[in-house]
Amino acid sequence: MQPSEGGTAIQPAELQPADPWHPHLWHPCTQVATARPPERIVRGEGAELITASGTRLIDAISSWWVTLHGHAEASIAQAIADQARTLEQVIFANFTHPGAEALATRLSARSGLERIFFSDNGSTAVEVALKTAWQWWRNQGSDRRQLIAFEGAYHGDTFGAMAVGERSLFSAPYDSLLFAVARAPWPATHAHDDGVEAREREALAVLERLLEVPTAAVILEPLLQGASGMRMVRESFLRQVEQRVRQAGALLIADEVLTGFGRSGHLFACQRAGIHPDLMALSKGLTGGFLPMGVTLAREAIFQGFVGPDPSLTLFHGHSFTANPLGCAAALASLDLLERHPERHEGMEARHRPLLERLAHHPRVRAPRLLGSMAAFDLAVDRPGYLNPAGRQLQARVWEQGVFLRPLGQVVYLLPPLGISDAQLERCYAAIATALDP
Ligand SMILES: Cc1ncc(COP(=O)(O)O)c(C=O)c1O
Repeated sequence: MQPSEGGTAIQPAELQPADPWHPHLWHPCTQVATARPPERIVRGEGAELITASGTRLIDAISSWWVTLHGHAEASIAQAIADQARTLEQVIFANFTHPGAEALATRLSARSGLERIFFSDNGSTAVEVALKTAWQWWRNQGSDRRQLIAFEGAYHGDTFGAMAVGERSLFSAPYDSLLFAVARAPWPATHAHDDGVEAREREALAVLERLLEVPTAAVILEPLLQGASGMRMVRESFLRQVEQRVRQAGALLIADEVLTGFGRSGHLFACQRAGIHPDLMALSKGLTGGFLPMGVTLAREAIFQGFVGPDPSLTLFHGHSFTANPLGCAAALASLDLLERHPERHEGMEARHRPLLERLAHHPRVRAPRLLGSMAAFDLAVDRPGYLNPAGRQLQARVWEQGVFLRPLGQVVYLLPPLGISDAQLERCYAAIATALDP
């Protein structure tokens, strides 16, 4: 035993490594009693995270799907620093600022939706879309009350977003507080799926029946339901959904919090699918993944429904950091990058494909599927579900090989930053292949 500086002997307990669970932190979606303690990250560089001990990990899920180009991307960091020295924050009622104007103009031009409402994250972008749709009908004197969402939907963790999401382990303690939502089936598909047409017909029939009740809005995640297990539908299905929604006169809300900003291979998944929502929620990749910001985009006609001398027509919703100038600067710099390098998001699907196809031959791999920069498959297990341990076991084995994944139960997926190199992407697949073998 070594004497300490003060001459007092160090007790054995002090020689133990510090508790990896910080006494003052509370991590999201984490059960401390059973989870692996968090790794301390001190730097990010491109597709990699660097731990306190210098280990490099490929961030193959873009840190919860937000890191769009790469970590610590220089041009975005510079834009934030420049903005911070000029105007870091200003109340967005009574005031506007050049960054918000420039960003709204560009988002509108790229999406075809004229009005941009700023908030803080994906959940708030969805909340604003729901409140806007609901109030728009009331402002018109209509009492349409039904909201329709899809089975397996995930729209965020705040109350309204949870209500339109599928009831699940995540929402269970609050279920009695959530408002009622009608639900249509989501005919998820994958490569070599013979039954998809029949499931789509059934889903559309259910949707048509639901739409016989006066409906305020239908909300969906275009092409890809993320959190419920990377469940994809065909583009033609979404076009048929839109047709039914239009016939019923309801509003269509697209939640592109995950799929927006090139993740689907197109700037927006709605564009890839050929649908035209009335409201759209965006976040995550909006700022390149640098700063929390959400936006809800709306058609001009929706905005006009809130304009008039009667104060009750107003959308009384606002967050302290609405249109934060730092977030706007980051988003503008991120859009610059996307527009300068369209080949990055347009080319990700082709880069994944041969690697996923090779992996798909493995006997433990089921239902391989691919959309833009997202590739997924299921592990063959007896009892699928979020709590199935198979994905966590695979996570531990790829982690040892320098790759970070976060499977959803038995669903394994890769959603790396667009700037990932070919060699890094191949390393991800190689690590999974090794981890799949006994
Ligand atoms: C489709 C979708 N909508 C909304 C959200 C909620 O976003 P946030 O976590 O930023 O609140 C998520 C988050 O994963 C999402 O995938």
